[in-house]
Amino acid sequence: MINVRVPATSANMGPGFDCLGVALQLYNYVSVEETDSGLQIDIVDSSSRFLPRDERNLVYRSMCAVFDLCGYRPRGLHITLENNVPVTRGLGSSSAGIVGGLTAGNALAGNPLSRDDILNLAARIEGHADNVTPAVMGGFTVNVCGRRKISYVKQPLHGGLRFAAIIPEFKLATKKSRSILPSFVPHRDAVYNAGHSALLAASLVSGDYENIRAAIGDRLHQNYRKRLIPHMDEIFRLCYRNGAHGVYLSGAGPTIMAITDESNRNFNAAMSGALNRKTKQWHLTILEPDNEGAVEIN
Ligand code: HSE
Repeated sequence: MINVRVPATSANMGPGFDCLGVALQLYNYVSVEETDSGLQIDIVDSSSRFLPRDERNLVYRSMCAVFDLCGYRPRGLHITLENNVPVTRGLGSSSAGIVGGLTAGNALAGNPLSRDDILNLAARIEGHADNVTPAVMGGFTVNVCGRRKISYVKQPLHGGLRFAAIIPEFKLATKKSRSILPSFVPHRDAVYNAGHSALLAASLVSGDYENIRAAIGDRLHQNYRKRLIPHMDEIFRLCYRNGAHGVYLSGAGPTIMAITDESNRNFNAAMSGALNRKTKQWHLTILEPDNEGAVEIN
C-alpha cells in the first residue's frame, strides 16, 4: 500500500500572479494499492458528495498520466482519498489532487520520475504552476513556466510565520475568476506588480517581514475579482486593524489570506469575533507553512 500526503497551497500572494505560492500544513491523503482488476475509489470525507469516484476522478487521471509516461500497467487499483483541503476555495485543491495522484502513481510504479518530472507534469495538467510548485516542493516558491520546463526556487519558511485562511462558505471556480481578468493592463500596472512581487519574494526569503505590507500590493487581479467576493475590502481592513503583516486573495479566491506571526496571539480570537459580528459566512483557520511538500508516508 502506498500512502501520500500533499499540502494545501496559497498562490499569487498578492502581486505574484501565477508565479508565487506557499505550501500550508493542511493536507490531503492518497492511498493506493494494486488489485487483481477494476477500479475502486473511496472518498472518506464530505467531498464524496460531489467528487467523482470513477475514471473521471482527478487523482486517478493524474496517476494514469504517470503510468502512460512510464509504461506501467496495473491490473486493478483501489484508491482511498481523504480530502481536507476545501474544494474551489483558492487553497489549491485541484493541485493537491493532481500532485497526490502523480506522487502516488509514481511510487506505485517504482519511482521512475524525479520530483522535477512530477512538477513539470503537474503544471502541464493544471495549466499554471503557482499552486503545483509548492504542492510538490513545499515552502515558499517562485516559479516561471518555460516552454519545456518550470524554473523555480524553493525557500523553506521560518517557523514563526502564520497564514490565517479566511474561508467563505461560497465557492468560486478558478475558470470563472480568471475569465473576468482583462487581456491587457496598463504598463504602469505591470511595473507596479513586477516591483512588488520582487520585494515580497526578497522579504520572505530574507525574513524581513516589515516590508510585507508595502510589498503585497497588486494591480493585476484582486481589484477585478473583488466584485465576485462580497465583504473582501472590509475583511482586508479588519485583518490590518488586527495586526496582519499583509493580506491577499488566496489564488483565484474566494479565500482571503492574512500573513501574521506567532507573536500576534490575539489575531485568531479578535478576527473570529469580528467576522461573526459582520457575517457568519466566513471561517478562520490559522495554518503554519509546510516545508516538505508532497511526501510518501507510512
Ligand atoms: N494564479 C492563479 C489565478 C491561481 O490567480 O488564477 C489559481 O490557481
